[in-house]
Amino acid sequence: MASAGHIIILVLGGLLLEFGIGGHATDTTHPRLRLSHKELWDLNRTSIFHSPFGFLDLRVMLLDEYQERLFVGGRDLVYSLNLDRVSEGYREIHWPSTVLQKEECMMKGKDESECANFVRVLHHYNRTHLLACGTGAFDPLCAFIRVGHQLEDHLFQLELHRFERGRGRCPFDPNSSFTSTLIGSELFSALYSDYWGRDAAVFRSLGRMTHIRTEHDDERLLKEPKFVGSYMIPDNEDRDDNKVYFFFTEKALESENNAHTIYTRVGRVCANDMGGQRILVNKWSTFLKARLVCSVPGMNGIDTHFDELEDIFLLQTRDNKNPVIFGLFNTTSNIFRGYAICVYHMSSIRAAFNGPYAHKEGPEYHWSLYEGKVPYPRPGSCASKVNGGKYGTTKDYPDEAIRFARSHPLMHQPVKPVHKRPILVKTDGKYNLKQIAVDRVEAEDGQYDVLFIGTDNGIVLKVITIYNQETESMEEVILEELQVFKLPVPIISMEISSKRQQLYIGSESAVAQIRFHQCDMYGTACADCCLARDPYCAWDGISCSRYYPTGTHAKRRFRRQDVRHGNAAQQCFGQQFVGEVLDKTEERLAYGIEYNSTLLECTPRSLQAKVIWFVQKARETRKEEVKTDDRVVKMDLGLLFLRLHKMDAGTYFCQTVEHSFVHTVRKITLEVVEEERVEEMFNKDYEEVPHKMPCPVQSNIPQGSKPWYKEFLQLIGYSNFQRVEEYCEKVWCTDKKRKKLKMSPSKWKYSTPQERKHRAKSDHYRLPRHALDF
Ligand SMILES: *[C@@H]1O[C@H](CO)[C@@H](O)[C@H](O)[C@H]1NC(C)=O
Ligand SMILES: *[C@@H]1O[C@H](CO)[C@@H](O)[C@H](O)[C@H]1NC(C)=O
Ligand SMILES: *[C@@H]1O[C@H](CO)[C@@H](O)[C@H](O)[C@H]1NC(C)=O
Ligand SMILES: *[C@@H]1O[C@H](CO)[C@@H](O)[C@H](O)[C@H]1NC(C)=O
Ligand SMILES: *[C@@H]1O[C@H](CO)[C@@H](O)[C@H](O)[C@H]1NC(C)=O
Repeated sequence: MASAGHIIILVLGGLLLEFGIGGHATDTTHPRLRLSHKELWDLNRTSIFHSPFGFLDLRVMLLDEYQERLFVGGRDLVYSLNLDRVSEGYREIHWPSTVLQKEECMMKGKDESECANFVRVLHHYNRTHLLACGTGAFDPLCAFIRVGHQLEDHLFQLELHRFERGRGRCPFDPNSSFTSTLIGSELFSALYSDYWGRDAAVFRSLGRMTHIRTEHDDERLLKEPKFVGSYMIPDNEDRDDNKVYFFFTEKALESENNAHTIYTRVGRVCANDMGGQRILVNKWSTFLKARLVCSVPGMNGIDTHFDELEDIFLLQTRDNKNPVIFGLFNTTSNIFRGYAICVYHMSSIRAAFNGPYAHKEGPEYHWSLYEGKVPYPRPGSCASKVNGGKYGTTKDYPDEAIRFARSHPLMHQPVKPVHKRPILVKTDGKYNLKQIAVDRVEAEDGQYDVLFIGTDNGIVLKVITIYNQETESMEEVILEELQVFKLPVPIISMEISSKRQQLYIGSESAVAQIRFHQCDMYGTACADCCLARDPYCAWDGISCSRYYPTGTHAKRRFRRQDVRHGNAAQQCFGQQFVGEVLDKTEERLAYGIEYNSTLLECTPRSLQAKVIWFVQKARETRKEEVKTDDRVVKMDLGLLFLRLHKMDAGTYFCQTVEHSFVHTVRKITLEVVEEERVEEMFNKDYEEVPHKMPCPVQSNIPQGSKPWYKEFLQLIGYSNFQRVEEYCEKVWCTDKKRKKLKMSPSKWKYSTPQERKHRAKSDHYRLPRHALDF
């Protein structure tokens, strides 16, 4: 026990060192932008489908770009949603279990909540039909759903005359882990296939080929697996050589120290496996598996491993034989929590399967490298022309080869990720990562993989990671944190459409869609656009807009974008960005009471920007950086004076620095009202009141907001609004007196009646805001 603890501490140290000193110039733990659910809504960037029946219990989603629908399977229901806008024009199929089935299910000891038909399989079967399977109150069944073409999308109905048994195709249990993929008319599935949830197996069924499975109760093949994903990935042009890959975790028999060690695996079978003739009859004869490693190299060769696969994503490339594989991993340690994303190339996976086998001499031996003779045909290879064409089917394989395959399902070498390290690691405990989807984008300075990561609290992170060859380190940039669901619900499924630039996100009770990008939101200056580092967006000379690689869109001369460095100063040189940014500086006036506290509010949009405060005191021309101490505190919300002094009066500049680009976000003139004056203001007549405070403009005060003077008086502890109002009317707000007021126009932009009138027509009056309500 003691030594185990020791190792973990060492490992942790290694990890911290690796990522702590790794040298991120910017603050990468914060997303650059955070968008609330409401903001996404106001931007029209999202749409949400809620089931009209009040429940969904989502289990599976199927994106069908051809039919232009998103199919969703849940409890007793299948929905067909509109890909353009999921909230509109949905169709549904009600597919409950019968009363009899439910009764039987409950009689067998299951809870009523489980005794429903949870639809867990949805595949595109042919041009006219979907294959759907449900748990059927612990008696799974499959059926076909007729779907229409684009023009007749009203069609969405269950073929009632043709139900099939679902055993081996769909789990009994609505919650047990499961994956399946349909190739031609053959369904490849990995699941717990019995009522008790004990028989974990990989199946091929449904089609015309022999139904085939892994052997029962063979721990060497699968030991308490959790199935995560499955895909057919061709090896070459010879279809007989096609292989189906399964991604799962299981208890690792080869692990020497700990019987409970969990490893992630990639397993594979030949799609055309027919089993053996005398041995492994109707069983896979080509099943092999290898360990998928995702670890951070540490000091002294001790790596920190992320062994619990949570989700897997296949990024298709132009070459369908070589998709890029993204794995989202969790740690299995109960001492240390963390997540990592690793990327794998098919070449590394194939290399592991083409490499040496692991071997176990007998019950007392450990798994070790097999160095003996490997039979022909090589176990795990398919009966195909590419492999010499000597065997038409695995049934013709010599017994020796089949016997070897049966006892050597594990490869000796693990599969290592690209760069031998994760592309992203999260150990700060801020997010629990559940789902991943990836979009590959062409940007001005190269290709980027934009990761969309779903969390367990309704959030999707949009992240890019940039590899630095020289330092062999990764920079991760969380471009956006999107609060997709109003409530912090776990995200359980994600589908991505690059064609539509939309992400579809499923939670237990709702399905949301979200557009990948909203370029104009970054701001109206070139610098804002560049600093965003969003590969989807570039400055086009006029605004921040969608970036299209050359040729595909109207050719604009200016496309300014720098995803790698976010160097706005360089990119935007000559774009008059300085002028524009200065123009955008907000100006405000704030009052504070002597000896009281005051907050000068300034929260830059970018959470990665560093804020620096400068002050220009009354008669000075020089700006100097504000010195903070225990009286003046820099906070996330702004600059806080715990106890205001008269000498604090002046003009404050809230500047942000991001990638060495400086931007003055806000200019606040702070007036300090002496304590006695506050009292005076109420007690003396107008004429004696120092006219520091302008008369509020009555018209055009935005609804719902209090006039500033009320806020001010409330601030200083004056709570009788009625009297305040009267007082203001009497003292400041008669027209006659307004004219008498001589306010400095530099402080009050719209101080003359003409100016005010003009302003009133064009815009709201800007209220000086006092933000003491932090
Ligand atoms: C919101 O976006 C959809 C397309 O996604 C569009 O059809 C709709 O008109 C937009 N609504 C508003 C108010 O802009
Ligand atoms: C698709 O499959 C269904 C179910 O087997 C079948 O009834 C239908 O005729 C098929 N459609 C086509 C176009 O092959
Ligand atoms: C299945 O999961 C749901 C939540 O996802 C939970 O409420 C339910 O209790 C689970 N059922 C079983 C049998 O574990
Ligand atoms: C990560 O693993 C831990 C322990 O294995 C588990 O408690 C946690 O739920 C996992 N996180 C997610 C998001 O699945
Ligand atoms: C500071 O303001 C509070 C009300 O916000 C008031 O009660 C208090 O008397 C003020 N203190 C001083 C020293 O003016």
